[in-house]
Amino acid sequence: MIAVVGSNNVDVVLTVDHFTRAGETQKCTTLNYFPGGKGANQAVAAKKLGAEVYFLTCVGNDGNAQFAVESLKKAGLEKGIKKVDSPNGMAIIEVEASGNNRIVIYPGANAYLTESVVESARDELLKADVLLLQNEIPFSATLHAARLFHEAGKLVIFDPAPSKDITKEIFQYVDIITPNESEAVSLVGDLPPEMLIKELKKLGCKNVLLKLGEKGTIFSGELGEFSLGAFKVDAVDTTAAGDTFNGALAVAIENGLDMIDAVKFASAAAAISVTRMGAQPSCPTLEEVKFFLDERGVKI
Ligand code: RIB
Ligand code: NA
Repeated sequence: MIAVVGSNNVDVVLTVDHFTRAGETQKCTTLNYFPGGKGANQAVAAKKLGAEVYFLTCVGNDGNAQFAVESLKKAGLEKGIKKVDSPNGMAIIEVEASGNNRIVIYPGANAYLTESVVESARDELLKADVLLLQNEIPFSATLHAARLFHEAGKLVIFDPAPSKDITKEIFQYVDIITPNESEAVSLVGDLPPEMLIKELKKLGCKNVLLKLGEKGTIFSGELGEFSLGAFKVDAVDTTAAGDTFNGALAVAIENGLDMIDAVKFASAAAAISVTRMGAQPSCPTLEEVKFFLDERGVKI
């Protein structure tokens, strides 16, 4: 079983010709509401790939919360939903023609996922072997969950996204940290990829998986040393590619794949997600990932 402790949002997605500039007003070409939030996306990604998942998250008391709950229920992730007295988390996302995005999040109910909420779900959480964390809930809660799993001898995968307000105390509890380039830069400074990894290790990260988007991934640490290219696809919307990657990585590790195959599997899942609009609706099924790998002659 995989545990996910984290956020859920309603994504308001505007497709635009170009990212809106300061002082500019422009019309978007489409408006869509998608279920999102880095925590929820990782949970849905893992679940759609066939894993058993427990997702601890806080929803609010407004219409967005209803939408979020419905989507989580449809995905079979209702068990760990806590309702709080607040508007739901929300994200405003601009997607450019290239598929790249810009995201502003309103934490809302996600701010209520505190250490004590984690503590109250402790028994449910610790049934899992792998924990997926991101950084859209109070950091103290993320830290607490990481410590719980580490002390229980279980695997902790931490996506430092967004990369603000992270203290280095967490690194001792994390087995694999999975920043993209800009997150790694904000953690250790503006350095080339190899140096980013070196500096993250100096901070105590045991394994660094650096996600370089279409340039692929670099993995370095106790669990392996390798770099892999990304699969080439036509990007429509990169939203949740990183989340899909992490959900899939946890599933692959839980299924006993070795690290290089686990990263290939996760890269394939992420590649499929960028060919589709939206966060959770873009997460692939296990059959889709297998088909994608087969089509490219990749054996894992
Ligand atoms: O990683 C993508 C996610 O970031 C979106 O779904 C949005 O809700 C923000 O949390
Ligand atoms: Na997508």
